[in-house]
Amino acid sequence: MEHLAEMAANLCGIIATRGAMDFKEQLKSSVDIASVVGEYVRLRKSGTQRYMGLCPFHTEKKPSFTVQVVHQLYKCFSCGAGGDVFKFVMEIEGISFYEAMKLLAERYGIPMPKRSLVADEDSKLREAVFQMHELAQDSFRASLKGPAGEAPRSYLVRRGMVPETAEQFGLGYSERSGRTLLRLFEQHQFTASQIEQSGLVRKREDGSFYDNFRNRLMFPIHNESGKIIGFGGRALSPDDNPKYLNSPETPIYRKSFVLYNLHRAKEAIRKEDRVILVEGYMDAIGVTAAGFRAVVASCGTSLTPEQVKAVKRHSQRIVVNFDPDAPGANAAERSINLLLEEGLQVRIMELDGDLDPDEYCKERGAAAYQERLDKAKGYFYWLADRARSKYDMHTSEGIVSVLKSLMPAVQRISDKLERMAIANDVAGYIGVDRGMVLDSFRKAVAERHEKAFERPRVEIRADERVLLNAVLGEPEISSELIRELRPIGAMDRLSSRRIFHVVFALDAAGTPLTFDEVNARLEETDRNLLAEAVLREDVEVSREEALAAVESIRRSQAQNQRVELKARIKESERGGRWEEALHLMEELQQLERTSRERR
Ligand code: UTP
Ligand code: MN
Repeated sequence: MEHLAEMAANLCGIIATRGAMDFKEQLKSSVDIASVVGEYVRLRKSGTQRYMGLCPFHTEKKPSFTVQVVHQLYKCFSCGAGGDVFKFVMEIEGISFYEAMKLLAERYGIPMPKRSLVADEDSKLREAVFQMHELAQDSFRASLKGPAGEAPRSYLVRRGMVPETAEQFGLGYSERSGRTLLRLFEQHQFTASQIEQSGLVRKREDGSFYDNFRNRLMFPIHNESGKIIGFGGRALSPDDNPKYLNSPETPIYRKSFVLYNLHRAKEAIRKEDRVILVEGYMDAIGVTAAGFRAVVASCGTSLTPEQVKAVKRHSQRIVVNFDPDAPGANAAERSINLLLEEGLQVRIMELDGDLDPDEYCKERGAAAYQERLDKAKGYFYWLADRARSKYDMHTSEGIVSVLKSLMPAVQRISDKLERMAIANDVAGYIGVDRGMVLDSFRKAVAERHEKAFERPRVEIRADERVLLNAVLGEPEISSELIRELRPIGAMDRLSSRRIFHVVFALDAAGTPLTFDEVNARLEETDRNLLAEAVLREDVEVSREEALAAVESIRRSQAQNQRVELKARIKESERGGRWEEALHLMEELQQLERTSRERR
C-alpha cells in the first residue's frame, strides 16, 4: 500500500516535471536572451545575431563572453561558462531552475501554469522568505506614515530628507513592540522554521520569538532584479547600539554579493559609464537625491570581489567617494587594490570640510559635488598623496617607503605602456628620479605571476563551420543538406564527425534540430567544438554557400579516395598483380572524370 502511494507520488512528480518542461520551452521561446543577459551585462552588438561583453563569471579585461540570438545561448570563450537563458539566470542570481523560470515568467508577464508550480524545498523556503520581506516592507512603511512614525519622521526632517526621497527609497519604521512582524507572519501561516530563517525575527533562549528590528529607521535592500532581500535599520537615538543593524545572512541574502542601490542605479551607471561608490545608505540616498543617480554603497561590509564584479557588469569606471575620516581613507585604500584586481579604472573623490557625501550634497549643493566629482584624482595620485603625508620625503628611506607603498597597485596594472606613463607621472609628483621609479616598478612587476587564462582555440574547417551553422540555424535547408551529407564517407574524417552523427540521428528520429538538442548529446570536447563553430562568430548561411560547402566536403571525399586508390595501385604493381592494378586505374580515371564534371 505504502509502495503504491509512493509510486503515485513519483508519477505525479514526473507529470508535473513534464508540465514544467513544456512551459520551459514555451517561456524560452518568448523571452529574448540578449535582453535578459543585457540586464546584467553590458553587451555590445557584434553581428546581426550576436552580442559580446565582459564575462560576468570570471575576471577579464577583453570581452570573450558571447550571446547568440539564433540559438538563444550564451558562451564565454575564456572560462567556458555557457548555456541557455535559464542557466544564465540561475548562475547569475544564484537561484534554482524553478526560481529562474518563475523570475522570467514574472518579468515577461507570462502566467505560470499550475502544473508547473513544483518547487523543491529550498525554492519554497526562499519564496516564503521573499514574501515575508514584502509583508515586512508594507508594515514598516505603514508604521512610518502612521501615528507611531512621529519620531522617525522628525528624525528624517532633522537630517534633511524630504518625504518624496524617503518614499522613493522605500524607507520605513520598525515599531518598538517587537511583535509586529511576528504576529503578521503567524497570521499568514508561515511555519516557525520559515519565520526563524527569515532573519526578520529572532529566537529567545526559551524558544519564543521577537522582531529583530525594533524602533529603527528601516532601509530596504534590494537584489539586482529589484526584490527586497534584507534591511538595514538605523538607530534613532545615539545611545542605541549598534548604529546600524543589518539583516543577517538568510536563504535570500548573501551580503557579499549585494550592493545597496544597484538595482536603481544600474541604468544610469551604464548611460554615464561610471559609478560612484559610497560607504553608507544615507550617502547613497543623499547623493541620488542631489541628482547623481549612478551611485551604490557596499552595505555594512567591506567591499568584496563579488560586489566589484556586480558593478563591473555595468561599467568599468568607478569613483570611490568614502568618508573623509581615517577609517574611510583606509577602507578606500583597501578597496582600490580589490578594484584594480578586477580591472576597473579607479578614481578617488575627496570632499573637504570633513563632510560625508550625504552631508556634502546637502550643505554645499549638487554643483559643488559635481565639481569634486570632476576633480576626482586617478587612484595613483591619491595613493601617492597619502604616502607622502606618512613619510619624510627628505630622506631616502622616506622615498623608498613611499615607492614601496605604491607597489601593490603597480603590480596590478597589466598594461606596460600604462605602467610607464604612471611611473613618469608619479616620479614628477613625488619629486624623485624617473629612472628610480621605473626601476622599482619593473622589479615589482617581475615578481608578479600572472596566470594566463585563455583556452586554446579548437581547429575547425571553414566548410564544416558553414554546414554546422546551416544545419542548426537555417531550418528551411537543413533536411536537404542532411540528405546530401549523410552518404558522404568523408564526413567520418571531419573533426566534427561526432556532431554530425548526432545531427543525423536526431534528424532520422524526427527531433527538431536545435543547438540544445545536439549539444545535450555531446561529450565535452565536441561541445567546445560546436560552440566554436556556431557561437564564436556570427555566421549567416545562404543555400548557395551551404551547397558549396557540401561540394567541398565531397571534393575532399574524392581527394581521399584518389589518395587511397593511388596507394592501392602502387601496392598491386609492386606485388605484380597487374590485372588488379589496371582495374584500380580505371576506377581512378572514373573518379577524376566525375569530379571534373561536378566542377
Ligand atoms: P556610517 O556611519 O558612515 O553610515 O557607516 P551613514 O550611512 O553615513 O550613517 P549616518 O549618516 O550616520 O546615518 C557607513 C555604513 O556602514 C554600515 C552601514 O551600512 C552604514 O551605512 N554600518 C555602520 C553598519 O553596518 N553598522 C554600524 O554600526 C555602522
Ligand atoms: Mn553619515
